[in-house]
Amino acid sequence: MNLAVFPRRGYVKDPTPIESCPAFSKALGGKVNIFIKRDDLLPGCAGGNKTRKLDFCMADALAKGADTIITCGAVQSNHCRLTLSWAVKEGLDCHLVLEERVKGSYKPEASGNNFLFKLMGVKSITVVPGGSNMMGEMEALAARLKEAGRTPYIIPGGASNPIGATGYVSCAQETLQQLFDMGLKVDHMVVPSGSAGTHAGIVVGMVGNNANIPVSGINVSRTKADQEALVRKLARETAQRVGMSGEFPDEAVTCFDGYVGPGYSLPTESMVEAVRLLAQTEGILLDPVYSGKAMAGLVDLVRSGYFAEGSNVLFLHTGGSPALYAYLDTFK
Ligand SMILES: Cc1ncc(COP(=O)(O)O)c(C=O)c1O
Repeated sequence: MNLAVFPRRGYVKDPTPIESCPAFSKALGGKVNIFIKRDDLLPGCAGGNKTRKLDFCMADALAKGADTIITCGAVQSNHCRLTLSWAVKEGLDCHLVLEERVKGSYKPEASGNNFLFKLMGVKSITVVPGGSNMMGEMEALAARLKEAGRTPYIIPGGASNPIGATGYVSCAQETLQQLFDMGLKVDHMVVPSGSAGTHAGIVVGMVGNNANIPVSGINVSRTKADQEALVRKLARETAQRVGMSGEFPDEAVTCFDGYVGPGYSLPTESMVEAVRLLAQTEGILLDPVYSGKAMAGLVDLVRSGYFAEGSNVLFLHTGGSPALYAYLDTFK
């Protein structure tokens, strides 16, 4: 798959590191070797997975003459923080529509990503109740901005459409080249699975390159059936866009829903343990909503013997650490 044919802005200039985590692996019993792909170190304000997707989405926005970006997310959205940061860099206005998925969770003075929205000069924040039609809300805002003479471009939640997911097809290709350069045979990959663009893109990249590396997604909100359906649909569309030969094999998508806990963004004991353990063994920060719950999943899969002894397991660290500062009470 030749991704060079797709316009992008060049936000990702160098491969993110793949780090060995010997102390973390030892703390989990030492039978599995954990490696981490550090997409938390991507460029853009405070790093994280959305930069790879926005690299392609922003190119599309600019090609269409946009002067204003509209996107949406949860009240502590990392995606909104990164979209705003790249809009600032491109000299574009940025408006956010925030979904209060947990009633009463939007606090105008909250720390974490919310603080950064204001620091980076967001043009407007519209807060809507959980379950709202987010695309409808963004389209209504776009209509008002058009009337005021602007040229808005809507980036869907998580930048999870085939344009954005192409960024994670590219990440899979980058990873395979790095593993070759390192002489490292990875047996399994574990990724957080939310709005699905990351998971779908990685699977398309792995399958499309015949990598033979199974990928497990760890859900952060939905049930296994719902999340697998979402990832498969986006993977099929992305596979078609990037010119993967043959039908996308649905069985390449596997999700685990046992680590969501009481719901999206609500803390779990296993998340807190995973965040602490990685911080205290490797000095790497996860986040409470995505990478922390995904790592809780990996920890449990290691302890329950899901991976064969001696396996090399690669965890995709998608970032999110600014959200930690909105969860100080959880870690007391
Ligand atoms: C830090 C972090 N990790 C993982 C995800 C999930 O990625 P995706 O939405 O592509 O499934 C998100 C989504 O917002 C995120 O912010």
